Amino acid sequence: MKIKTLTTATLIVLLLIVSQMLQAQLPRETEDQKTQRMKWWTDARFGMFIHWGLYALPARHEWVKNYERMTNEQYQKYFESFNPDLYNPREWARMAKEAGMKYVVLTAKHHEGFCLFDSKYTDYKSTRTPFGRDIIKDYVEAFRAEGLKVGFYYSLIDWHHPDYTIDRNHPQRQESDSAYARLNKGKDMSRYREYMKNQVRELLSNYGQISIIWFDFSFPGKNGKGRDDWDSENLLKLARTLQPGIIVDDRLDLRDVQGGWDFTTPEQVKVARWPEIDGKKIPWETCQTFSGSWGYYRDETSWKSTPQLLELLIESVSKGGNLLLNVGPTARGTFDYRAQDRLKSMGEWMKYNSRSIYNCTEAPAGFAAPDNSLLTYNPVAKRLYIHLLAYPMGRLTLTNMADKVRYIQFLHDASEIRYSAGRGETANDLTLQLPVLKPPVEVPVLEIYLK
Ligand code: GLC
Repeated sequence: MKIKTLTTATLIVLLLIVSQMLQAQLPRETEDQKTQRMKWWTDARFGMFIHWGLYALPARHEWVKNYERMTNEQYQKYFESFNPDLYNPREWARMAKEAGMKYVVLTAKHHEGFCLFDSKYTDYKSTRTPFGRDIIKDYVEAFRAEGLKVGFYYSLIDWHHPDYTIDRNHPQRQESDSAYARLNKGKDMSRYREYMKNQVRELLSNYGQISIIWFDFSFPGKNGKGRDDWDSENLLKLARTLQPGIIVDDRLDLRDVQGGWDFTTPEQVKVARWPEIDGKKIPWETCQTFSGSWGYYRDETSWKSTPQLLELLIESVSKGGNLLLNVGPTARGTFDYRAQDRLKSMGEWMKYNSRSIYNCTEAPAGFAAPDNSLLTYNPVAKRLYIHLLAYPMGRLTLTNMADKVRYIQFLHDASEIRYSAGRGETANDLTLQLPVLKPPVEVPVLEIYLK
C-alpha cells in the first residue's frame, strides 16, 4: 500500500516535470551561444526585404488603407484584381543573389491583413484571388535554390481581421474613447491572438527551414498595442520551438525579456554609432527603402543613388551592423526598373569588393579613418578595409599605422599600393601613393594586410 502511494506520487511529480519540459521556453543561451546562432547572419551583412501585398495595386504606399482611412469594402477591389501574372520568384532570387545579398525576408502578411500564403485560417489570401497561387511556397523554393537564407515578415497589426480592435494606428481610428468602445464592441482580441499563433505555426511548419522571423510592430500606450495584446512571449516561444535556430527582430515589445529578441532594427536611419544596451554593443540591422515607401509606389521620385546605397551598406558594416534593403514589387509581380538598376550596380561593386563586407565588422579602436572614408575589418583574416568615398588625389596619409601594416593593395584588382613611413606628421604615419586617376569602381577599397 505504501509502495503504491509512493509510486503515484512519483508519477505525478514525473508528469509535472515532463509537462514543464514540453512547455516551450525562450532559449536560455549564453552570450556565446547567441553569437554562434546568429553567426551566419552577422557574417552575411546584406539582405533583401520584400514588401508585397494588395497595396501594390493602388501603388501609393503600403499604408494606403490607413492613410486614406479606407474600409474593408473600399479596399476589396484590390483583392478582386490581384493577379501578378509576371510573378517569377526565381528572377527575384537571381537579382538578389547577383546584388550580393545573402538572405531575404518577405511579407507573409502586412498590416492590411492580406496573406501571401494558403492559410487554413482565413480566406483573405492569395489563393483566393484571381491569381490563385501560394506565393510563399514559390518564393521559399526559389530563394533557397539560389542559396539565400529565407525569412518571413509577419505583421502583428491587422487592418482586416474582424477581431482586431480599432486602435490609433487603424484606418478606422477615432477621436474619443466612447467612439473606440462603440466600434470595438464584440471584437475579441483573444481570438485574434489565436489566429496569429495558428498562422505562425503554419508559416514555420509548412515551408521547411525558416531562418528569420520579423514581427512588426508594437506601439504600447493609449489606444495602442503591446506585448499583452499580441501575447508576445508565447508567440515567440512558438516560433523558437518550431524553428530552434530562428533569428527574431525586436518589435514584439519584449526588449526587457531575456531571449525576447535577437537584433535591433533602426528603420530608415543611419545610426550614429554601434547601438548599445547598458554599454554593450548589440546586434543590429538597419532596414532601408530605395525610395521612401516599402510597398510599390509608382509616383515616388526620391530614389537613392547607387553611391548612396553603397555608402549605406559600407557604413552599416563599419559600425558592426547589417543592411536589409527593400524592394516593393509591382502588382504584375516584377521589380521596378529603378530597383533593378540599383541592384545591378550594387552587384557590380560587390563582385569585386564584397571581401570588405562579408565577415567584416567595425575596425578595432586605434584605427582612424582618413577623411571621406569608411573602415571595415575582418578579424579572422586580420585585414583592414578603407573605402574611399571621395577619391583623393595621389596621396593619402594613414595616421599612426606604419607599425601595423604588412601590405596594401586595391581590393578590386589586387594591385599593389606603395607607401612610405615617416612623411606625415609623426614617424608612425604612412603615406600612400595612389594613382591620380580614380579606378573604375564606384567606391574604391584599399585592402590592408595587418601584421
Ligand atoms: C514599419 C511600417 C511598415 C514597414 C516596416 C519595415 O513599421 O509600418 O510599413 O513594413 O516598418 O520596417
